[in-house]
Amino acid sequence: MTKLWGGRFQKSAEAWVDEFGASIGFDQELVLEDLEGSVAHVTMLGATGILPAADVEAILDGLAQLKDKAIAGGLEFTVANEDIHLNLEKMLIDLIGPVGGKLHTGRSRNDQVATDMHLFLKKRVQEAIDLIVAFQHTLVEKAQEHIETIAPGYTHLQRAQPISFAHHLMAYFWMLERDKQRFTESIKRIDILPLGAGAMAGTTFPIDRLQSAELLGFSQVYANSMDAVSDRDFIVEFLSNSSLLMAHLSRFAEEIIIWSTDEFKFIELDDAFSTGSSIMPQKKNPDMAELIRGKTGRVYGNLMGLLTVLKGTPLTYNKDMQEDKEGMFDTVHTILGSLKIFEGMVRTMTVNTERLHQAVHADFSNATELADYLATKGMPFREAHEVTGKLVFTCIQKGIYLLDLPLDEMQKESALIEKDIYDVLAPEAAVRRRHSLGGTGFEQVQIQIEQAQACLA
Ligand code: ARG
Repeated sequence: MTKLWGGRFQKSAEAWVDEFGASIGFDQELVLEDLEGSVAHVTMLGATGILPAADVEAILDGLAQLKDKAIAGGLEFTVANEDIHLNLEKMLIDLIGPVGGKLHTGRSRNDQVATDMHLFLKKRVQEAIDLIVAFQHTLVEKAQEHIETIAPGYTHLQRAQPISFAHHLMAYFWMLERDKQRFTESIKRIDILPLGAGAMAGTTFPIDRLQSAELLGFSQVYANSMDAVSDRDFIVEFLSNSSLLMAHLSRFAEEIIIWSTDEFKFIELDDAFSTGSSIMPQKKNPDMAELIRGKTGRVYGNLMGLLTVLKGTPLTYNKDMQEDKEGMFDTVHTILGSLKIFEGMVRTMTVNTERLHQAVHADFSNATELADYLATKGMPFREAHEVTGKLVFTCIQKGIYLLDLPLDEMQKESALIEKDIYDVLAPEAAVRRRHSLGGTGFEQVQIQIEQAQACLA
């Protein structure tokens, strides 16, 4: 088969060499964006008088037919035509005749492919933002149900201080809020059009780049044609933002997995988001959470992959850049899928409030309350810490918790301790009293939820 660029060549590459160089196996995912870019380009070629109206009409008609076929899944791509751009151009020429060959006037695959990537990512980042918002709504709803559900809070995965379960859930809301901001902020760097940069130096045709930008919905064009075809920063940035998003989802996934164990039993996942074991009939595994935790690895890998591809590529386009695609597509699918699953998993999970209640009543996570109590009564905090530590040790030896320790035993360590200490030590009180801004006190959590709702409004 003759190549669209075959004029200068005396012989063809062998099929297996073509296969190695081809990107059609994966860049066919850009089919609609490539057609969209071509429609704008040829429209501009007509408006500027570079192509006669009749040619433009024929080409637009051909492109529309190809689009219909693409949507119906009826396009058959071939490795012999290397990539999505040449496949479509060849199809266009086969469909409407040699006039189809005028489409590529004043354009190169270099500005074409970069345009496709910008178009593709702009839409997908918006989808990611929408899914983040949906997940945030679910978190707020779940949190509202559990403002007064007391749960153990951890540091070092050791019981630390009692918290409102809503406070724990809302921590993820704010991580997602930053992810959403990062993705939103990144759109302005995706929203720059490379089309019209040509191969890298611009073109002698009197093109109108601003018109192309308007037709394609871009608010800016690249100021430098060399930068336009070389820039993959916007993809790196997407992969970086996605990596951080996945880090957050992965931490949450890890907690879901821990909370689902028999040892914790803080939550139960819905059957619809769990799987069984082929051998152990009793198993209910948090596979979806594990998979999201696992998929975080490939997203980090995609980021490192592209950074490494770009490093050391001289200006401007190099075939290395074809390697920007699979990692980007893979990341798009991974984050969209993970966000969708996570939202459903959290929306349908059951929070075991009884078990959480039981948990905070069988630990020393109220020890800080005792130390704070003594400090409020004038004892230096360091000393109060020591006294409390001793009382905790006494309890451990007796196999009881602070609330079970008789008053006289406590008073042996400090005469400042009075009967009201039992109210102070109640985990519920420990949470309620944490009034500091952004703390876990019920009122503060309520305020925080209102702030969150304002972010979503
Ligand atoms: N398939 C190529 C890519 O994805 C398209 C651009 C090819 N340009 C070129 N000069 N070979 O990067």
